[in-house]
Amino acid sequence: MSTDLQTSKRFQSPKERRDFLGLASLWSAGIALVIGLLGALRLPVPAVFPESNSRVKLGLRQRFEGTSVTWFPEYRLWVYSTGGELYAISAICTHLGCTVATQEGGGFYCPCHGSRFGPGGAVIAGPAPRALTHLALSLSPDGQVVVDQQEEVSPETRLKV
Ligand code: FES
Repeated sequence: MSTDLQTSKRFQSPKERRDFLGLASLWSAGIALVIGLLGALRLPVPAVFPESNSRVKLGLRQRFEGTSVTWFPEYRLWVYSTGGELYAISAICTHLGCTVATQEGGGFYCPCHGSRFGPGGAVIAGPAPRALTHLALSLSPDGQVVVDQQEEVSPETRLKV
């Protein structure tokens, strides 16, 4: 009987079980360390890229056919369409950021401190230090006109649609 107990796997070699548990805890600690290091390496990479937030779709290109001016109050910009070419002007005053308005006879004025801008956004009267910003337009693969609110372009830049 005692030889059965000594040879039985269940009661045999408690030392081996201890070794197994020791090895298992070492492997667990090692795996946890590797996973933690991988997570720490990912920290410098942003999960959301700021540039993706500055690009917004304004509508299908057909919306801007012909000659038109479309106001987008939610983005504070105008899109001008002139015979198949588009350009966008920001309505954010370059003085202190008020929203400029269009004025009769063309151009823009700022109700806050009275700056005036020409039809292309150039400063006519201060205190605005520089012209209104022209924003980059592009076409998305699904045929939408996209504006990048962070990318300034020259006033002569046009998007052909
Ligand atoms: S904010 Fe437009 S003139 Fe001051």
